[in-house]
Amino acid sequence: MIAKTFHDRVIAPSLLAADFSKVGEETTRAINAGADWLHLDVMDGHFVDNISFGPAIVQTIHESNDIFLDVHLMISRPDHYLPRFIAAGSDCITVHVEAEHDVADTLDRIREAGCLAGLALNPATPLEDVIPFLGKIDLLLCMTVVPGFGGQPFMEDMMDKVRAAAAFRKEKGYAFHIQVDGGISAETAAISAAAGANVMVAGSTTFGAKDMAAAITEIREA
Ligand code: DX5
Ligand code: ZN
Repeated sequence: MIAKTFHDRVIAPSLLAADFSKVGEETTRAINAGADWLHLDVMDGHFVDNISFGPAIVQTIHESNDIFLDVHLMISRPDHYLPRFIAAGSDCITVHVEAEHDVADTLDRIREAGCLAGLALNPATPLEDVIPFLGKIDLLLCMTVVPGFGGQPFMEDMMDKVRAAAAFRKEKGYAFHIQVDGGISAETAAISAAAGANVMVAGSTTFGAKDMAAAITEIREA
């Protein structure tokens, strides 16, 4: 699956900040506002202290439109639930390195299914923990908040990790995207891009904006 975008900077509004009573309309609103990808935060109430939605919602969104679905699994057993998220129509599936699974095997299975494979790390997790897997991913997600909730402040000290990941990628000749997630605004997108990130997840500042198209343009151009 090729990412359906040709922008240098990919803007991925997070549905977590949308109005859940009209998920279809909210998705259309994001598409019309210029979203490149739609970021779907799946939380199991165990890996993180919140519960959001599961594969049925991913499938509903997939069936109603064509946007690239960037599925962020904040769940303890991504290996167990993986087939359901593949069948639901995910385009990229990101799993956490801290979850309870055989990380290399899960990443292989995601790619074998024809999806992009993403690997996420929490703010407290050092880059060293993901180094063994960087040759088999399409996207590295450096969390810029502790996952679980939208609307938290951006942790600028994560930029050292982003810079180190970008340097490692260059040294090895890898091509994975570097994504940041949490507290992204025009200002923090600029900081993240300068550090080497190219995929910006933004919830509150996109779905929560008065003018979503203007907000996305600002994040793209900052
Ligand atoms: C946090 C989620 C994020 C969240 C971002 O656990 O992974 O994707 O929706 O929300 P904002 O952009 O509001 O920080
Ligand atoms: Zn997320």
